[in-house]
Amino acid sequence: MTATVTMDRLTRVPGLLYGGDWNPEQWPEQVWAEDVKLMAEAGVNLVTVGVFSWARLQPDADSWDFGWLDRLLDLVHRHGIAVDLATATASPPAWLVRAHPELLPVTADGVRLEFGSRQHYCPSSPAYRQAAVRLTRALAERYRDHPALALWHIHNEYGDHVQECFCPASAADFRRWLRERHGDIEELNRSWGTAFWSQRYNSFEQIEPPRTAPGPVNPTQLLDWRRFCSDALLALHRAEKAVLDEVSPGVPVTTNFMSMLKALDYWEWSRHEDFVSDDAYPDPADPRAHVNAAMNYDLMRSLKGGRPWLLMEQAPSAVSWRPVNVPKAPGLYRLWSLQALARGADGVLHFQWRASVAGAEKFHSAMLPHRGTAARGWQETVRFGTELRRLGELAGTRLRGQVAVLLDWDSWWALELDDHPSARMRWLDLLRPWYAALYERGVTVDFVPPTADPDGYPLLLAPNLYLLDTATADRLTAYVRGGGRLVCGPFSGITDRHDHIHPGGHPGPLRELLGIVVDEHWPIPDDATTSLTPAGTEPPAEPRTELRAELRAELRAELRTELRAELRTEPRADLRTEPRTDLRTDLRAERWSEWIETETAETLVRYDSGALAGLPAVTRNRLGDGSAWYLSCHLGTDLGAVLDPVLAEAGVGAELPGLPEGVEATRRHAADGTGYLFLLNHGPVERRVPLDAPGTDLLTGTEAATAVTLAPLGAVVLRLPAPQERA
Ligand code: GLA
Ligand code: GLA
Repeated sequence: MTATVTMDRLTRVPGLLYGGDWNPEQWPEQVWAEDVKLMAEAGVNLVTVGVFSWARLQPDADSWDFGWLDRLLDLVHRHGIAVDLATATASPPAWLVRAHPELLPVTADGVRLEFGSRQHYCPSSPAYRQAAVRLTRALAERYRDHPALALWHIHNEYGDHVQECFCPASAADFRRWLRERHGDIEELNRSWGTAFWSQRYNSFEQIEPPRTAPGPVNPTQLLDWRRFCSDALLALHRAEKAVLDEVSPGVPVTTNFMSMLKALDYWEWSRHEDFVSDDAYPDPADPRAHVNAAMNYDLMRSLKGGRPWLLMEQAPSAVSWRPVNVPKAPGLYRLWSLQALARGADGVLHFQWRASVAGAEKFHSAMLPHRGTAARGWQETVRFGTELRRLGELAGTRLRGQVAVLLDWDSWWALELDDHPSARMRWLDLLRPWYAALYERGVTVDFVPPTADPDGYPLLLAPNLYLLDTATADRLTAYVRGGGRLVCGPFSGITDRHDHIHPGGHPGPLRELLGIVVDEHWPIPDDATTSLTPAGTEPPAEPRTELRAELRAELRAELRTELRAELRTEPRADLRTEPRTDLRTDLRAERWSEWIETETAETLVRYDSGALAGLPAVTRNRLGDGSAWYLSCHLGTDLGAVLDPVLAEAGVGAELPGLPEGVEATRRHAADGTGYLFLLNHGPVERRVPLDAPGTDLLTGTEAATAVTLAPLGAVVLRLPAPQERA
């Protein structure tokens, strides 16, 4: 059992956290003195130390060298700086690797990856785990009472470089995991559907990891492998966490997540974190990078139900690992740092403090660049450190999303298995337009797991629910019956937790809730699109599934003619009920469409071209006190037009009405009701933003009554008094 320290403040350090990874072992000790002096000048209050120090801390199997770290921790403490102490386990030293070559990871093709980089370990290797736990214990015992210690940083970016290993130790661990999950071999045969292609197993001993095979590998084997790989890394993390909880209780523990990472089920992982921290590297060359960043930050906040999180790493300017590494233009570093705070972070840390002169990351930007204190980057470091101190009262304040988006790693993994109707149904590609549409409308999003009770949200969006168990479907149905509004994206309700098709027609357990049935999936190839048009017809009297195929074809042809005639004669304004009149008439589906038939749902939008012309594309089913929409196609950038009437019906509007284009607005709230309105201008032109209440800009101390003007890349953080104070 690992205990989690529940806290709204991430550490005992007052205010917001500011600092970064510091790799002092790369420098002679004389440099450290200058480092701490400059840290104090920049307002740094937390440094992450020891992330890659294993070889320095333990020069060989039986010797330890803590002297340098003792001196370092004492030094930073004298300068009033706290330490986020890493367990240093992400890069096993050469002596350990040579003593236990079997701990090196093996690829699906059987290639053993060599020493000479980092993260070279098999997650299931007993030798690696023992050594990692031993090092963690040695560090915890030595430093648990050190006054500089503010938090523990386990490992580094689990899942970076190596996410899976196919060696014999992994195979044995996989079999153990399968036994625990499936109990006996007959159950596994059923779950994996091994009657197919003669894949039957007589015993667990016959099972291997899904190594490279001649053709398509059993999908349930692959799905269980994904689950196992996330669990295998989590087991390592939990082994270190257990040591820290035992030896150093009360000191919070975190590991740095990697934003929306497919390999690790962060819902499960975050249960074992005292708080969530994240590494985020939006690309300055991508004009939409801030939208993706917002999405990642919303996830990080959501992982622990809205509690503050920590931006553990970001680049002060350029990174070094993209093919082309564009720096952050003046102002962008500050704006993007504030964006993390705007979405619930309680601190901004960096990779890294001082730029390296050797190694694979010597071209990576740092808070203190190679040029030293004359560098532009250093000026930004000092300036932002000063600003951050003015925002100290934000620490521990929270924000809550207006709508919920359902994210399920199991479904993500299953969706992206091979041999599907279209290889282009990738979870992040499906999700992004949903998030972007909400972002552009100024609506704040919380992510929720499939096990969540979404009752507190007026609207729940499920961009894709490919794998869906009946328990989740029942929860969604109860939510809608109770007055909730659900919007479900295409290719949903397809398989159960073993990735077997729900029999009896898609969307399986969602069929009654959505009031539709899918006859056939109809992926749209390449760059082709299918046009859509708002519907004006009533729901069909009888379920059309009763119809035989020829009849169906006839009906389609007829319907098409009827519809065309109707659309020609009826003016658009006549398309009745108000949400429908809002729909644009130039919508296009891309990537994916479905032949669907309505059962109890009404059709809001129809396909207007291609083989599906005339058939329903977007539907709404009233059930109990709520409604469930189904989008049978991928709408890309046109999705917002379909979501507008849904948002209107759910009573969800922009966080701040009248927000100009390119401006992001979010609100944090203190327990006493004080609000903090962040306004961030991501655009290249000055913007005037009307306010719904007067406030004080914490960054400048200026009062703003009815509006603020934001320069390009400009930002304000307005303190809004609690409602009773205002009155
Ligand atoms: C080949 C194989 C069949 C089946 C089909 C699928 O013809 O012989 O077993 O895989 O392809 O198209
Ligand atoms: C990750 C790692 C760091 C460093 C940075 C570079 O976040 O955790 O050690 O490699 O990337 O961007």
